[in-house]
Amino acid sequence: MQAQGLVGMKTVAENRRHIHGDPGDDSEDDIMTGSGDMHTNVVQLLLADHRQAEQLLERFHDTPADQRDEAFCELTYTLVRHEVAEEEVVYPALRRYVDGGDDLADMRIAEQAKAEELLAEMERAGVMSAEFPAMFNTLRSEVLAHAEAEEQSVFPELTTSVKADELLELGKRFDMAKKLAPTHPHPHVPDTPPGNLVLGPVAAVVDRVRDAVRGVRT
Ligand SMILES: [Fe+2]
Repeated sequence: MQAQGLVGMKTVAENRRHIHGDPGDDSEDDIMTGSGDMHTNVVQLLLADHRQAEQLLERFHDTPADQRDEAFCELTYTLVRHEVAEEEVVYPALRRYVDGGDDLADMRIAEQAKAEELLAEMERAGVMSAEFPAMFNTLRSEVLAHAEAEEQSVFPELTTSVKADELLELGKRFDMAKKLAPTHPHPHVPDTPPGNLVLGPVAAVVDRVRDAVRGVRT
């Protein structure tokens, strides 16, 4: 399968114009910082995350096979943190504020579950396995398609249906959830190889991230 590259993906500025109807200003500073300050709403943070995921996927694609363990770990944690924070903060708002939001949320969550299953298969196969490159190409295609679907359907709906101050509040929660979610396999894992390369079952990563994010809400 030919993975969709970055060519053809919308730029950040194009996405913002689409979402905000802003015809002119191309300044990308507030989006690219990805910081959850009081002027950064949840849609801007999500777009910044998507651009980061694209960069990570490209970097992983260019990493030699024998150096991919750590890159795969970083990729997995980045994708899982984003997905879980979306599931806990963004999709509930989509269901609550947007007409037809339940269907949109269900579709996007099903795509994310598929990506998590694929990550688990990739982990089981190992980065040096013969089947890994094809699995990675599938993952990259699916993650990019999922991000594009969100940018085309979910983000514009949120922007038009959710009040500006609520979008800012959701942004704060999304940012905090990501910051508090674990970014490494286990606290006790050594910083040097080979111990630092142990990812553990992807499902366990998802659970650990979800527990951390849910702890933010309580
Ligand atoms: Fe997303």
